[in-house]
Amino acid sequence: MKENYEARIQELLGKMTLEEKIGQLQQCGPSLVGAFEVSFEELLNMMFDGRISEEEFGRLMSTAEQDFHEEDLRAGKIGSYNGVGDAATANRLQKIAVEETRLGIPLIFGYDVIHGFRTVTPVPLGESCAWDPDLWKRTGRMAAQEASAAGVHMTFAPMVDVAKDARWGRVSEGAGEDVLLNGCYGAAKVQGFQGEDLSNDDSIVACVKHFAAYGAAEAGRDYNRVDMSPQRLWEEYLPSYKACVDAGAMAIMPAFNDISGVPCSVNRSLLMDVLRDKWGFEGMTVSDANAIAECVNHGIAADRADAAVQAIHAGMDMDMTSNVYTENLAELVKSGTVDEAELDRAVADILRTKFAAGLFDHPYQTSEEREKETILKPEFRALAREAAQKSIVLLKNEGDVLPLSDNVKIGLAGQTAFAKAEMTGAWAIGANGDDCVSLAEGLAAAGAEVVSLMADGTMGNQEEKPEAADISDAVSLITELTDAVGLSKNYESLAADCDVIIAAIGETKDQSGEAASRANIELSEEQICMLKRLLATGKPVIAVLFNGRPLAIPFVAEQVPAILEAWHPGVEAGNALADILFGKVNPSAKLTTTFPYTTGQCPMYYAHINTGRPGGKGKYTSKYLDTPLTPVYPFGYGKSYTTFAYSNLTVEAGADAVTVGVTVANTGSRAGDEIVQCYFKRHTGRRVRPVKQLVAFEKISFQAGEEKTLNFWISREQMGYYDSEMNFITEGGRFTFFAGGNSADCLEETADIM
Ligand code: NOJ
Repeated sequence: MKENYEARIQELLGKMTLEEKIGQLQQCGPSLVGAFEVSFEELLNMMFDGRISEEEFGRLMSTAEQDFHEEDLRAGKIGSYNGVGDAATANRLQKIAVEETRLGIPLIFGYDVIHGFRTVTPVPLGESCAWDPDLWKRTGRMAAQEASAAGVHMTFAPMVDVAKDARWGRVSEGAGEDVLLNGCYGAAKVQGFQGEDLSNDDSIVACVKHFAAYGAAEAGRDYNRVDMSPQRLWEEYLPSYKACVDAGAMAIMPAFNDISGVPCSVNRSLLMDVLRDKWGFEGMTVSDANAIAECVNHGIAADRADAAVQAIHAGMDMDMTSNVYTENLAELVKSGTVDEAELDRAVADILRTKFAAGLFDHPYQTSEEREKETILKPEFRALAREAAQKSIVLLKNEGDVLPLSDNVKIGLAGQTAFAKAEMTGAWAIGANGDDCVSLAEGLAAAGAEVVSLMADGTMGNQEEKPEAADISDAVSLITELTDAVGLSKNYESLAADCDVIIAAIGETKDQSGEAASRANIELSEEQICMLKRLLATGKPVIAVLFNGRPLAIPFVAEQVPAILEAWHPGVEAGNALADILFGKVNPSAKLTTTFPYTTGQCPMYYAHINTGRPGGKGKYTSKYLDTPLTPVYPFGYGKSYTTFAYSNLTVEAGADAVTVGVTVANTGSRAGDEIVQCYFKRHTGRRVRPVKQLVAFEKISFQAGEEKTLNFWISREQMGYYDSEMNFITEGGRFTFFAGGNSADCLEETADIM
């Protein structure tokens, strides 16, 4: 691709003034003009730190107009916008860029399309539980079609930050704790977003984030430091980004955090040596919001000008909204502090990405008509429903409470059962809560007999209430439904007429996502209290969990007979849940993240090392005194309405690879899908190795009674690791291979492989 555009890029660079070059590096976030002029981010900050009230914020938002800085655009000082999500505005601004600037270089519009644009699909952590690259690609394609119709050219996704700490709010935005899964998820998303040909109007640039290891923020506190050995970085964190680069991603967002003391925004070894030189990346880097300027806060840059010098030198091409390049670069180049060749290299990356996205040949990639026809198409809703069905994990089903029979009388409890906007989860900025089907609505649409309702128990922590609008949604829906069935005044009357109780619990959408780390991932007291009272009625209780991260739910796991982990399932939430509850769809999802007993165990993950004193009964072993050693639910865990049995594990070593075979049988009476997982362990290494490491997986459909034998082909390279000198080691030794339906319950076979 490079060859095709390089001559045109050089020609353009030859014509550009210094200011025009710097303009290409500028991503503008429109500011809000209301009572005063501030950026949206600043306005949000003002509300969060109490300088303005929520009401004032709402008033300002409703009266404020956006300022797109058109004069700067006309002067060639803006190369990109962030957050424009409608065709009319995008085309209006693009027309200025193409027709009124001296060189007519088109804009590229970036937007956070994290799990769907308007047709919101499950949060990525939820969707990852489908273990289904084909699904991930198709939902990525759908998001690209919808977002591009609304004028978006680039999405700030996928996020492939491996996240082992449930306290970190952004676990919801990625594919969980495993590096292989994150890589498969990210590569599929890149293929989906960018489509067959990135220059097509319905393809969008994938901006992979957050490079690198943002998910390893110390103590799970957002934006916190990351410090780890280079070996761990290369084994457990970098491969997921590399998988996305290999899949052709044209943009990368360096992370907010530092790695071993050097913030990623100014980390030349990461952005130049690894990304460009080692991995051959030819697209553009875009900073995270304001991140270049924040290098002053990090204490790595003396001032904003110094931050600009360091960032451009490190290989940071585009400045997302901190304005340090536009403020400083011209002077810095003129004084010789910044070499113009560094600026040219950054501009070339951005132009190359714009060429690859087809923007020079067709800068107007959408119309208001296309936007109208595309948004929330029926086939999009159908795919969102499929994605939700495939993401919902059946965690427990004691006494086969599920699936429900058609004529069962249901009591529905918990505010979240009636919530619509809550279903979108974190990072769904193009969403409209009204598009969502709540659990109550989904049950009603499925013809379920809901005989009693109770909106009790808060959605999350006491001090963090759901959005006011969402509560009133819930209240008006309750009023509507209660006209038909009557709202219970107490738990006993809720239970009186029903055969089974469905209780919606979990956390609010604002309790996960960016800047939503939690020092306590337990359920709120109100929720536990509600569950206790529901259980005391003697009716079987089904807990439906809505959350964006693993929660510590030992009480639920022990006491409640049936549990569905729904995550935040997106616009089709209620319909997909009804499909599962009534057995129209057999659940097949499996956890991509470990569920600990308590917050104090975080970070807890399956691929840990043994230590010299592996956890056990003895006193001086690696464990906590007050929690079990094992998690509540392990990585890879999930049940089905049918059962699967594993047998006949075989290991055959060849010159370059090992073949692991296993036979899986559906031993129940229903058809179902099983996610078959293959792990390995190297017994002895030059550095200590994990007790188990996912190396392959496959989701297979089985008829009742059907049996299949699978073979996983595992290359020597996949079994390799780094020694203390950073040599990549693929030598033989003693290995154990595992195959099973979750990380804790596998068949295993040990072999010496030379
Ligand atoms: C900050 C977030 O870290 C990043 O993920 C997002 O893409 C940008 N803001 C833009 O909204």
